[in-house]
Amino acid sequence: MPEHSLKIGLIGAGRIGLQHAEHLTSRIPSADLVMVADAYEEAARLCADRCAIPFATRDYHAILDHPDIQAVVICSSTDTHARIIEEAAQAGKHIFCEKPIALDLPSIDRALNAVERNGVKLQIGFNRRFDANYRRVRQAVEQGEIGRPHLLHIVSRDPEPPPVEYIRVSGGMFLDMTIHDFDMARFLIGSEVEEIFVLANVMDSPDIAAASDVDTAVLMLQFTNGVIGTISNSRHAAYGYDQRVELLGSAGVISTGNNYPNTAIISDERSVRRDQPLRFFVERYTESFVSEMAAFVDAVLHEGPVPVTGRDGRIPVVMALAAQKSHIENRPIRLSEIEQ
Ligand SMILES: NC(=O)c1ccc[n+]([C@@H]2O[C@H](COP(=O)([O-])OP(=O)(O)OC[C@H]3O[C@@H](n4cnc5c(N)ncnc54)[C@H](O)[C@@H]3O)[C@@H](O)[C@H]2O)c1
Repeated sequence: MPEHSLKIGLIGAGRIGLQHAEHLTSRIPSADLVMVADAYEEAARLCADRCAIPFATRDYHAILDHPDIQAVVICSSTDTHARIIEEAAQAGKHIFCEKPIALDLPSIDRALNAVERNGVKLQIGFNRRFDANYRRVRQAVEQGEIGRPHLLHIVSRDPEPPPVEYIRVSGGMFLDMTIHDFDMARFLIGSEVEEIFVLANVMDSPDIAAASDVDTAVLMLQFTNGVIGTISNSRHAAYGYDQRVELLGSAGVISTGNNYPNTAIISDERSVRRDQPLRFFVERYTESFVSEMAAFVDAVLHEGPVPVTGRDGRIPVVMALAAQKSHIENRPIRLSEIEQ
C-alpha cells in the first residue's frame, strides 16, 4: 500500500458495491478498503472474502465510528443514501455516493447541507462522464468541432429489467435509469435543461406495471441555450445493452456506437452478423467506474475538487421529478415548477 493511501469503508455490497470493491482493491493503488458493511451480513462477508477486505459488518455505523477511516463509498439501496450521507458528513468522512442522492428534494437538501456544514467532499456516481465515448463527444463540443450544438439524441436501453424487489425501492425508471441520461445531457451540452415532455408506457413487464412504473419512454428536452434533445429509454432491448449518442451541430455531427466484446464480423450467403454489444453496465462501463473512483480518491488525497458534485447529483433528480409529472399530467413541465 502506498504511504499516502486513503482508508475507505464500503456501505452496501450488492451489484454495484461489489464492482467498486473489486476496483478499489485491485485497480486503485492509493485506495485502502478496510471495511465493508451490508445490512445482509452474508453479502458483506462474501464481498470481504472475494476482495480480501479485513473487516465485514452488518451495521455501517462501525465504519462511521472507525477513527482511521477517512472516506465512505455508499452503494446501499437508493432509499438509504441521504440519511447515510448526513451521518457520514457528521462523522467527518468524505463521501462517494451512488446515484441518485435521494428520491425527493428535501432529503437531498438536508444531505447537501450536512456536507457543506461539515466541510467534507461529496462525489456522486455519474460514471458515464468518465466513459471514453462520451468524453470525446464533450471534447468535440468544447473545441467547436461540430460548430454550435443543435440536436442531441441519447439512446439508453437496458438488456433486461432489474429484479422487481429492486424496482420497488428504485424510485421508478426516470429516477433510477433515465437519471444517467439526464446527467449525460447536461454534461454533453454544458447547459441546463428548462423543460421536459415525456411519452411513456409499460410494454413488456407485468411486474413493472404492478410497481406503478414504466419500462419504455421517449423524453424531449429543451435546453436553456436553445438545444433540443431526446432520450430513448427501454428496460428491455432484446439485442443487448444499447448506449449511443448523436449530436448534430451547425458544422457537422458526432455519434458514438455501442462497445463490443470483439470486432469479428461473420458474412455468409444469408447474412452479415456480429456478436451482441457488451452485456450490461458492469461490462460496458467498467473503465468509467474505475476512473470515477480513482478521481474521487485523488480529489480527497490531494484536496482537489471532486469532478461530479452534490449539485450535479441534485439537478438530474429535479429533471426526473419533472419527467414523472409530465408523464402523469401529459404536458411539458418546466423544471421551475418542480422547484416551487
Ligand atoms: N452508477 C451506476 O451505473 C449504478 C449501477 C447500479 C446501481 N447503482 C445504484 O447503486 C445503488 C445500489 O444498487 P445495486 O444495484 O447494487 O442494488 P443491490 O440491491 O444489488 O444492492 C444494494 C445492497 O445494499 C444493501 N443495503 C440496503 N440497506 C442497507 C443499509 N442500511 N446498510 C447497509 N447495506 C444496506 C442491501 O442488503 C444490498 O446488498 C442504487 O442506489 C443504484 O441506483 C448505480
